[in-house]
Amino acid sequence: MMKSEETIKGKILFTQEQIWERAKEMGDEISRDYEGEELIVIGTLKGAIIWMSDILKNLTLDTKIDFISASSYGSGTTSSGVVKITKDIHMDLFNRNVLIIEDIIDTGTTLKFLKDYIAERNPKSVKICTLLDKPSRRKADVQGDYIGFTVDDLFVIGYGLDYDQKFRNLPYISYLEG
Ligand code: IMP
Ligand code: MG
Repeated sequence: MMKSEETIKGKILFTQEQIWERAKEMGDEISRDYEGEELIVIGTLKGAIIWMSDILKNLTLDTKIDFISASSYGSGTTSSGVVKITKDIHMDLFNRNVLIIEDIIDTGTTLKFLKDYIAERNPKSVKICTLLDKPSRRKADVQGDYIGFTVDDLFVIGYGLDYDQKFRNLPYISYLEG
């Protein structure tokens, strides 16, 4: 159930119910697209975990899951484009269908790196499923194949997304007014 007004952090953009409904639609779409095939679902730590669980519960495919974590280094608000893997995938991806689950595509720097990194393992296919897309800030040439919601250039929190590592547990997506 929704928390009372006083405890809500910021302005709500998407409720848990709206996100779950979208996950059902996207889970159906993904299940149709990969019908009869196995899918390796790779979550990007830490932001994607809550959304990943919603998507997984709506897949009717044979799936295996794994996680990857990457940090991108930059100064201030500008990303240098230097990305480092801090937790690697342990599964064999050769000739497998891989679906990367991401929380948000912002500049796209991290995801472009991850997609290329995974492609080096010669999977059968690599697609991206993101909860949120912020296309106005894109710098890298990468896009989501399955997109939950498109958002304006706002800093959003909750449902896995953090501000200084906090608020990942909020059962909704909101933004902090500055
Ligand atoms: P990118 O490499 O610029 O696309 O950065 C992607 C990562 O930045 C995401 O996986 C998030 O962890 C983080 N990020 C980007 N925008 C937001 C936001 O609005 N709220 C919280 N985290 C964000
Ligand atoms: Mg993140």
